[in-house]
Amino acid sequence: MSSTFAPSTQSAFTPETTIGAIVAARPALARLFEKLDIDYCCGGRQTLAAACARRGLDLVTTIALLDSAGAALAAGPTEVDAAAMSLAQLADHIETTHHAYLKAELPRLVEMADRVATKHGWRDARLAGVADGVRALAGEMLSHMQKEEIVLFPLVRQIEAGVAVTHCGGDIANPIRQMEAEHEAAGSLTAELRLLTDGFTPDAEDCNTHRALLAGLAEFESDLHRHVHKENNILFPRALALAAGR
Ligand SMILES: [Fe+2]
Ligand SMILES: [Fe+2]
Repeated sequence: MSSTFAPSTQSAFTPETTIGAIVAARPALARLFEKLDIDYCCGGRQTLAAACARRGLDLVTTIALLDSAGAALAAGPTEVDAAAMSLAQLADHIETTHHAYLKAELPRLVEMADRVATKHGWRDARLAGVADGVRALAGEMLSHMQKEEIVLFPLVRQIEAGVAVTHCGGDIANPIRQMEAEHEAAGSLTAELRLLTDGFTPDAEDCNTHRALLAGLAEFESDLHRHVHKENNILFPRALALAAGR
C-alpha cells in the first residue's frame, strides 16, 4: 500500500503511539486492528510505526483509517427514518444492518468473552458468568433472526403486497407475540450482562481484550435497543394493522 496524501496535522495518533495505548483509550478501535491483522493484545506494546512495518501497511494510510474510525465513533450511529419506510423496505433495512451486524459481531463477542474468562477468571468469578451469558445471548439471537428472516419478514412483505394475511392459516399476531417475547428475553440477558460488568465499565487492570469485549457489549446493547424499537414499535404494529384491515 503506498501513501497518496500527507499525514493530517490534526491526528490524535502519532507513529510512536503504542497499539495498546490506542485500544485502552478507544476500545472500539480494536475492530479496525483486527481487520488489519494487527495484534493489539499481546502485541500492545509495539508502536503504530512498528506494527505497520511488520504487517506491510502504509503508516500514513493507517493513521488516516484510525482518524476516520475515531470520528465515526464520535459521531455515533446514523439512524434512518424507519417510520417513513414501507414495511418491505424496513424489513430489508433491519436484515442488512442490525441482522448483518449481529451475525458478524456475536461470534467475535463469544470468542473474546471465552478468552477473557479463561485468562482472568481466577481474579473475577463473574467473568465465567459473562462468558455463559454472551454465549446464551448469541445462540438466542441467531435463532431469533433466522425465524424473522425465514417466517415473519416474508409474511410481512406478502401482507403489504396484499397476497397474504395469515401465518399457516393462523393469525400473524402469534409469530409476532413470539418475537416480542424473545426480544424481552434478549433484553433481560443483556441487562444481566450490564450488571455483571458494572455497566460495561473496565477496571484499571483489565487487558485490552477485556476492554474490547466491554466496548463490544455496550455497542451490542445500543444496537439491540434500536433494532427492537424498529420491530416492536414500527414494523409489527403496522403489519398487524394492515392484516386486520384486509
Ligand atoms: Fe430482528
Ligand atoms: Fe427481532
